[in-house]
Amino acid sequence: MAVPSPYTIRFIENDQEVVLAGAVRPPNAAALADVRAVLEGAADSVSGILFVNLKRLRYLNHAGFCELARFVRESARKRPELRIKIVISSVVPWAPQRFAILPELYSNVVVEHYDRAFYPGQGVIENDALIPVLRTQTNIIWHHERELLVEHGLKEGMKVADICCGIGDFAVLMRKEFKPSRIVAVDHSRPFLQYATQVAREFGIGDIEYQFGDATNLFLEDDEFDFVTSRLSLQVFDQPEKILRELMRICKPGGRVYLTNEMMSHNYGYPRHETVSWAYRQINDMCAELGMDLSFGPKMFSLLTDLGFEDIKVETIDITNRNTAVEDFARVIESWEGYVTGELSTATHQPKEMVERLRSGLRDHVYTITSRRGFATWPLYVASGRKPRASGRGAARKAASG
Ligand SMILES: C[S@@+](CC[C@H](N)C(=O)[O-])C[C@H]1O[C@@H](n2cnc3c(N)ncnc32)[C@H](O)[C@@H]1O
Repeated sequence: MAVPSPYTIRFIENDQEVVLAGAVRPPNAAALADVRAVLEGAADSVSGILFVNLKRLRYLNHAGFCELARFVRESARKRPELRIKIVISSVVPWAPQRFAILPELYSNVVVEHYDRAFYPGQGVIENDALIPVLRTQTNIIWHHERELLVEHGLKEGMKVADICCGIGDFAVLMRKEFKPSRIVAVDHSRPFLQYATQVAREFGIGDIEYQFGDATNLFLEDDEFDFVTSRLSLQVFDQPEKILRELMRICKPGGRVYLTNEMMSHNYGYPRHETVSWAYRQINDMCAELGMDLSFGPKMFSLLTDLGFEDIKVETIDITNRNTAVEDFARVIESWEGYVTGELSTATHQPKEMVERLRSGLRDHVYTITSRRGFATWPLYVASGRKPRASGRGAARKAASG
């Protein structure tokens, strides 16, 4: 039986682009003759700029890098007027450092590291200051979500993917409750994935496939999963439709994509509602400065509709201090206080007085949660849609362009 190649290479003539994807680990240079042939053919046939797209390259070994570097060197010698733009990603961790040498050696080469700062909020999201927030949040949401997932179509034994999985706690809970036949969890934060894999190891869980990757360029096959989830994440990425298109691509026709997002500006706490509401509107605006939309929740229906999903279901999870353990709810807001007055205020250059007002608004929320006669809420939006059975991608594309 023929073993499938671990990588693919194709030349897209219209875009003057060579796309090399997968795992490139040749034992020696001769084993990459096909890659060299495509690159050389492309370089001979284009003028202006040749794009070499390595965004979906998952592995690259030394011999592979040397072959790419040799191609660049020979092109620079044969056709010095041809410019070559190589686009790399952080998936191959040493790639930025190795590829950086090429523009220094050859003036016709540019290297772009596309996911170094690929969404404006990346710096404040993908670091371990957010871990306490993610932990405490899942703790109180799961209680409500476990049943909702069933209503939205999750069943035992399904193939499941959790995209933008954060610290992986939701994947662990889904695995435990729904015993999926396969479960993949992807995120673009190395600290979160490190945390997730450590927790999985400590819990003796070996079958969650954690992957580092970009949700807009996943290393997952088309039409692969019965149920694809992405929680509280479209709201932090500045182009949510790009993520949603990928979620739809990896979902099986007839399968469902399940999303949750917030409406931060509607968080509420009585009797201190004025300071509480002010603080959340302010946080919403600070996040907007970083390209996030923490009021994305109610917008999901339109986006799912635009992309051609069917049977769209939308509802809210009303977390209140009457239906959730008061100490756990308070812990969530306390974790936000640390994050908002630290990481977020620093990133958005808030003056000291503003930081103190934010702190006091969030503390007032905690007061309303814990007070005997207080009433406090955190509304979340849940939406899911079914990928059309027939020609899902075509239908989706048609709907999106219409
Ligand atoms: C607010 S957290 C939510 C995490 C998790 N889903 C949860 O509910 O706890 C947002 C997550 O999205 C991830 N993320 C944002 N943009 C991403 C992208 N383009 N590709 C992969 N992960 C991304 C961040 O690293 C972060 O873990």
